[in-house]
Amino acid sequence: MKIIYYFSGTGNSLRAARIIAAEMGGAELISMRNDPEDVSAENVEMVGFICPVYEWDVPVAVKAFVDRLTINPQAYIFMVATYVAIHGRCFETVHTVLRKKGLELHYGKALRCVASQCVAYEPFPPVWLMVPLADRKAKRIGKEIARRKLKKSPAMSPVSNWLYPKMMMPFLNVQHEYDKGFYVSDACIGCETCRNVCPCNNITFSGKRPVWNHRCEGCNACVAYCPTKAIQFKTPEAYAKLDNIITKRLGLPEKRTRYHNPYVTAADLTKDREPVEISSVSRSS
Ligand SMILES: Cc1cc2nc3c(=O)[nH]c(=O)nc-3n(C[C@H](O)[C@H](O)[C@H](O)COP(=O)(O)O)c2cc1C
Repeated sequence: MKIIYYFSGTGNSLRAARIIAAEMGGAELISMRNDPEDVSAENVEMVGFICPVYEWDVPVAVKAFVDRLTINPQAYIFMVATYVAIHGRCFETVHTVLRKKGLELHYGKALRCVASQCVAYEPFPPVWLMVPLADRKAKRIGKEIARRKLKKSPAMSPVSNWLYPKMMMPFLNVQHEYDKGFYVSDACIGCETCRNVCPCNNITFSGKRPVWNHRCEGCNACVAYCPTKAIQFKTPEAYAKLDNIITKRLGLPEKRTRYHNPYVTAADLTKDREPVEISSVSRSS
């Protein structure tokens, strides 16, 4: 039995997981928003973790999930981190959690994708260029994993290590305030797509309007998949106080592209489990 646990906001990581699963000869994909106790990897021969890099690390929910997951000590364990420019210490974080359980990460690779931070800037590199490139690389990674290649994970660079406390810690210290920036315009139709795609189970509904409950990782799933572009964002007070060049840019101008991976729909992200068969992932699925 093979399982890939994934976390995905705008679909890049789920797309990669599907391609890799197909190359592995099939695997079950399980969202990390499940309770780890309900989706144990106790009897699993190949265990994968696929998630985005956030603030030079893995999302907090990913670290917590891996920490609580029971894993077969004989399993081949791999991790793929989707990112844009700096993967930071994401592999070290997961490796540290695994080592506490007496386990090793056998394979780790970073996969460059389109930037999903539409609340701060336009997606880049261009989608037409980056999506096919990422798909091709995911396929190559899948082939390596299928033959259980051993690959040391990339480490955080010394420069990133030095910059981390200065550049990332200020954001992380106020992260629980981030979703105070979300609100909806009159275009909201109360369809609950935002609630269904949120990988952190952070959105509930009060009447016909979404409420964000301060477990947000800033993934932008709610923004990217809102069918009427009703979800808006203004810099929350705690972020404005940071007086940083990026926090000044936070917002969703009407013309901003609300990127999500073109092959991943809101319905895909709503599912919590998905079997992937060999060669079942085509360019259109
Ligand atoms: C809140 C947030 C923080 C991010 N931080 C980083 C980062 O530190 N380094 C990086 O290279 N990319 C960063 N990204 C880009 C994502 O890692 C990248 O677009 C990823 O493929 C998104 O995966 P998903 O579509 O599965 O959610 C960030 C994106 C978001 C939304």
